[in-house]
Amino acid sequence: MIKKYLAVGALMLLVAALAACGGGGGDDSSSGGSSSAAPAPTATTAPAATAKPAGPSNDELVGIGEKAFGTCAGCHGADGTGVTGLGKNLVGSEFITDISDSDLATLIKVGRSSSDPANTTGIDMPPKGGNPALDEAKIDGLVAYIRSLQ
Ligand code: HEC
Repeated sequence: MIKKYLAVGALMLLVAALAACGGGGGDDSSSGGSSSAAPAPTATTAPAATAKPAGPSNDELVGIGEKAFGTCAGCHGADGTGVTGLGKNLVGSEFITDISDSDLATLIKVGRSSSDPANTTGIDMPPKGGNPALDEAKIDGLVAYIRSLQ
């Protein structure tokens, strides 16, 4: 008899718990759903925002790039505005504004030979500006420096 009451009691508790879960869960997911929908974009942008300070700051990159630009200045001018018959004006270049950082870094690494269909002047842009000593860090710096000129 006692066992039976316990069993019934347990069953009622279970039903009550399920009802609470079901009802509460439903409310939670509808209100939680809409409130968690808003913070979601923040959550996805947060890792990107926290990933940046891990490396050098943009100012540091620009400083590295400014030094490394010596390799490029012969053709693109000390101020990046280009030298007639040598390198293009890099200031106010739509190509540079439209291209991603990684594609700009790739362009600096591989250059753009006069035989490349994308070449616009018939003059070679040598890989790494002809300076094999340019490493990834300097190229990242050059990307930031060129962006700072726009
Ligand atoms: C020997 C000369 C020369 C040197 C050195 C040189 N460039 Fe160039 N660069 C060019 C020429 C020429 C072009 C244009 C190619 C074309 O006709 O599309 C060019 C194009 C570019 C472009 C694309 C610009 C655009 O609007 O299409 C970028 C970016 C660039 N150079 C960056 C650099 C960087 C950074 C360095 C230094 C690491 C460098 N260049 C060194 C000659 C040079």
